[in-house]
Amino acid sequence: MGGITVSEVEDYLYAMLPPREEVLAEIETEAAKNDVPIVGPAVGRILYQLAIVSGAKKVFEMGSAIGYSTIWWAQAVGDGGRVVYTDGDHKNADKARRYFERAGVSQRITVRVGDALEMLSEEKEPYDIIFNDVDKADYPRVFRLALPRLKRGGLFITDNVLWSGKVAQPNPDAQTKAILEFNKMIYDSKDLFTTILPIRDGVSVCVKK
Ligand SMILES: C[S@@+](CC[C@H](N)C(=O)[O-])C[C@H]1O[C@@H](n2cnc3c(N)ncnc32)[C@H](O)[C@@H]1O
Repeated sequence: MGGITVSEVEDYLYAMLPPREEVLAEIETEAAKNDVPIVGPAVGRILYQLAIVSGAKKVFEMGSAIGYSTIWWAQAVGDGGRVVYTDGDHKNADKARRYFERAGVSQRITVRVGDALEMLSEEKEPYDIIFNDVDKADYPRVFRLALPRLKRGGLFITDNVLWSGKVAQPNPDAQTKAILEFNKMIYDSKDLFTTILPIRDGVSVCVKK
């Protein structure tokens, strides 16, 4: 992932990361081989840490692919915690289910296949964390849907908000425009306190006031 940090600094940060357990390491290998855009270990650790410090027990994940970030959440919420996996692709969900079994976290995860925005819109109970990693063009719509479904003090976390640095380049394409609109929304919102972490492809962390 280029365009945000100096590549030598990026290499340094990744070289320092402790090894992951077997299943996460295997997903990283599969993702690299098949071009599955997972958050990777540096961001995985942030997700885990944010869930732990906020004491999150209920996480709704939008765009889960083969379950890499889902496993980080599931490990963080602990016994009695619940993570909703969502993806539009059945094949991804089948692979993810197998990884969840092997990682010993399938009891904590509800796998749902379909449009994550539609599924979130049907949710009634507030979540501790909503994690957004769907198609970038949908980010402004996700903002509108997520806020009412987040508890007060809950976290709204989004990946790829710096989009390989394209947010700072002239002539943004449609996806970049959507991310630019989204970033303005999360900083302008009176209901959120927002920070963007410039790690990997940019992660926004918003606390609902
Ligand atoms: C960037 S990948 C998710 C990676 C995953 N969060 C991880 O880090 O391990 C995005 C995934 O979102 C799914 N997706 C995109 N838009 C979606 C939508 N509206 N509803 C459900 N899934 C969606 C795609 O099928 C893809 O697998």
